[in-house]
Amino acid sequence: MHRRRDLGGIVFVDLRDRDGIVQVAIGPGWAPAAVVTRAQGLGAESVVVVEGAVVARPPAMQNAELATGAVEVQATALTVVGAAETPPIPVARGKGEELPAEELRLRYRHLDLRRPELQANLMLRHRLLQRARRALSDLDFLEIETPILTKPTPEGARDYLVPSRVHPGEFYALPQSPQIYKQLLMVAGFDRYFQLARCFRDEDLRFDRQPEFTQIDIEAAFVGQEDVLGYVEAVLAALWSEAGHRLAAPFPRMSWRDAMERYGTDKPDLRFDFTIGDWTSHVRPLGVPFFQNALQNGARVRGIAVPGGSALSRKDVDQLAETAKAAGAPGLAWIKRQGEQVSGSVGKHFTVDAAGTLGVRDGDAALMTVGVDRVTSPALDRVRQEVIRRLAPAPKMAHALCWVVDFPLFQPDPETGRPVFSHHPFTAPHPDDVAKLDRDPFACRALHYDAVYNGHELGSGSIRITDPAVQRRIFAHLGLAPADIDERFGFLIGALAAGAPPHGGFAIGFDRVVMLLSGAGSLRDVIAFPKTTAARALFEGAPGPARAEDLAVLHVKVES
Ligand code: AMO
Repeated sequence: MHRRRDLGGIVFVDLRDRDGIVQVAIGPGWAPAAVVTRAQGLGAESVVVVEGAVVARPPAMQNAELATGAVEVQATALTVVGAAETPPIPVARGKGEELPAEELRLRYRHLDLRRPELQANLMLRHRLLQRARRALSDLDFLEIETPILTKPTPEGARDYLVPSRVHPGEFYALPQSPQIYKQLLMVAGFDRYFQLARCFRDEDLRFDRQPEFTQIDIEAAFVGQEDVLGYVEAVLAALWSEAGHRLAAPFPRMSWRDAMERYGTDKPDLRFDFTIGDWTSHVRPLGVPFFQNALQNGARVRGIAVPGGSALSRKDVDQLAETAKAAGAPGLAWIKRQGEQVSGSVGKHFTVDAAGTLGVRDGDAALMTVGVDRVTSPALDRVRQEVIRRLAPAPKMAHALCWVVDFPLFQPDPETGRPVFSHHPFTAPHPDDVAKLDRDPFACRALHYDAVYNGHELGSGSIRITDPAVQRRIFAHLGLAPADIDERFGFLIGALAAGAPPHGGFAIGFDRVVMLLSGAGSLRDVIAFPKTTAARALFEGAPGPARAEDLAVLHVKVES
């Protein structure tokens, strides 16, 4: 019972199920007096069974906003089969009425899930899951399940560990992904695998990250990068079509280096044109003090010309400078051109022509900073996103999918400078760069590709290493001693030595896809029972302390 109104002896009840709402009218003309009285006492959210006739509503009473608004049910019988206590959070809301605080909604998730928005999200999730299964099955992929109690899989996060009762002091890890298993399935001759795989990662959470989440995980043998990209395009096009959108495949491609150069990020949002430019040579002769001191040691001046950017207020620009500083940049210099005037923090150094060399025309602005790319790229990425948010320019298209390819194989650890893997250690080096592995590991590209949608990373994948000797070399680069390699990955290296076909694959972050296609604001709105950003399940109350006797059986001692 969604809502009830008593009007002059007739009770109108909005009855809700997962398909929507229908109005039930309970009045003395057609319902026994006891039924009318029962309806008058009905509590919100109670579960009722109604019998009656579906009749057309009088024209003046029709509700065009409701799919069933032309009819109502004139009830002759009404039974309460599940009475509801007064709900701690409302399910029915008036127009414009705010939602209760999310913490409260997560605590009473069984009620919040009754909300039509969340019901719609989970119904879309179901349809997308079925569509993904069908698309992959039609492409001859086999759905194979892999273990949840397993050995650590390195995907860059911490593992959730599960103590073993029968083997004191030993632990299973929950999989960060089925990565190693899917490779073993290729070695075992299954050729094409997929799984709607639950993954577990103990990492810092955000609106688009949950500690447990679902991947559409695929792997195929006897394939190269082109084949994998083709499969993923087919699956994504099927998913978008299920949600009523058409995607044009093949998706455009961009190298990681270009993405970083032009967008400052490996997740470029291609709905908007203005990109980052290298303005060092334009700006150097102008003698701007803000840049001059910093233009050493590989520093560059980079910036964004913003069409219509003179609409940015002084306050906007100050806040954009704060955004740049928060990302580590020394600040943000800016100019605006209005008519023949160039103004701004470094405006006095620019003529109209000098502004023109940056692509700044009448009514535009330019925002720039200086430093090494490691600093200016993330700073300008955030500035660009913030400018888009503030100026809300019209997007070129609604759905901008692209591939980012040729990622670096290694990245320097920010603290030690040592190589750490960019993706995971099973990614094959680019064949043209294998010679650089020892000489210049950071210049070595990988056969690794990401799918990016409107600035969100949807998924990533790679062609894998199949030569056990190369796999050992990569582990050694990552600082693993031979004994460690054998202990942690011996089973994989042994399998590769058993005759491994060339193979590669991909994983689509399924929760993210549902979030983006449903327009939900966070993954929590597309997962039935999600965790908070503090990794708590508020509804069921997890994690919680374990009883001393359970810990003893598991040979675990908790130190406070
Ligand atoms: P990766 O680690 O990039 O690749 O994960 C693939 C995709 O999974 C999604 N994702 C997440 N979604 C929600 N919450 C999280 N905490 C989370 N972490 C990742 C993202 C991401 O793009 N084994 C490789 C794939 C492969 O090489 O085949 C892997 O797991 O959308």
